[in-house]
Amino acid sequence: MIPEILIDKAVKDIFSGIEFQKEPSGLYDPLRYMIEIGGKRIRPKLCLTTYGLFQDSLTPEIREVAAGLEVFHTFTLLHDDIMDRSPLRRGQSTVWMKWSPDTAILSGDVMCIDSYKRVAKAPSAVLPQVLDLFSRTAAQVCDGQQLDMNFEKEISVPMPSYMEMIGLKTGVLIACAAQMGALIGGASPSAQACLYEYGFNLGLAFQVADDYLDAYGDEKVFGKPIGGDILNEKKSWLTVRAFEKGAEGLTEAMSAPASTPVEQQAKIARVKRIYDSVDVAADARKTIADLSALAVSCASGAVSSPEQLDVLEHFARRLVGRTF
Ligand code: IPE
Ligand code: IPE
Ligand code: MG
Ligand code: MG
Ligand code: MG
Repeated sequence: MIPEILIDKAVKDIFSGIEFQKEPSGLYDPLRYMIEIGGKRIRPKLCLTTYGLFQDSLTPEIREVAAGLEVFHTFTLLHDDIMDRSPLRRGQSTVWMKWSPDTAILSGDVMCIDSYKRVAKAPSAVLPQVLDLFSRTAAQVCDGQQLDMNFEKEISVPMPSYMEMIGLKTGVLIACAAQMGALIGGASPSAQACLYEYGFNLGLAFQVADDYLDAYGDEKVFGKPIGGDILNEKKSWLTVRAFEKGAEGLTEAMSAPASTPVEQQAKIARVKRIYDSVDVAADARKTIADLSALAVSCASGAVSSPEQLDVLEHFARRLVGRTF
């Protein structure tokens, strides 16, 4: 096993030493900017963590794959911020706001390609499975992002449809990171499948937590503006659950105009009052805890010692513990 402290250090080293092409700077500067402003790096951490369950040291190949997962994730954020019209990411201006939407599109494209180059550094014995997993995941993320946009235009969305959507946009990449480390680390197919399920459920918990924090978080910690989902009329977990509980006035509040800052703040406050009237925040916290526990129970099929399960349990706690 590889201790957590060494994995955290490896992740730090990977991104402080990562190199991208210099010119044309208009294309590569935004990419460097996005990586430099940080983020939680959960996908590379998870990949190295599951690898570390089966191996005792990190090779240059697994480091490249872990970097590739983060670069891919960051590429999805570049495009997501255009689609969600978000001004702030990781506490800093988003690329489309700082440069332009055109720049964010093209820098995102080249970032996606860069991620493939890195993931393709996986050892040749497992490369076909690695690329198959990665490509399938990448396409599923796009499916999920399309559903997320479709749902903006729907009045209400059933909880199972919402869960399907977040499974695709968020769950599968975290699941892929968990399986990828295990696959390259030499785990059996059944252990890989258990770790995929672990990552998937953790990803669901993570997205419910993200939706919760989008309304109830602290902007300084969250790094994104509070209330963005409400202004975009997103069918977030909170909204879907409030509809499920028959909250009154939600449709009108969600579709209220919000073109000025004053109107925007009023809309956010109004929708949050409706959330509070049916206490969906408490339901969200319970769902996050339940999904996280489910993730850990899925992982138990992949491990052969209590120490290994402790590692995965600890990772789950670190990941969604930020919500409480
Ligand atoms: C943001 O992901 C998008 C979601 C899936 C909620 P992260 O919350 O992992 O973003 P960074 O990388 O830490 O900024
Ligand atoms: C984004 O979901 C998921 C992906 C980027 C694929 P969100 O739109 O909720 O993510 P944030 O809140 O902007 O980070
Ligand atoms: Mg989005
Ligand atoms: Mg977004
Ligand atoms: Mg969000």
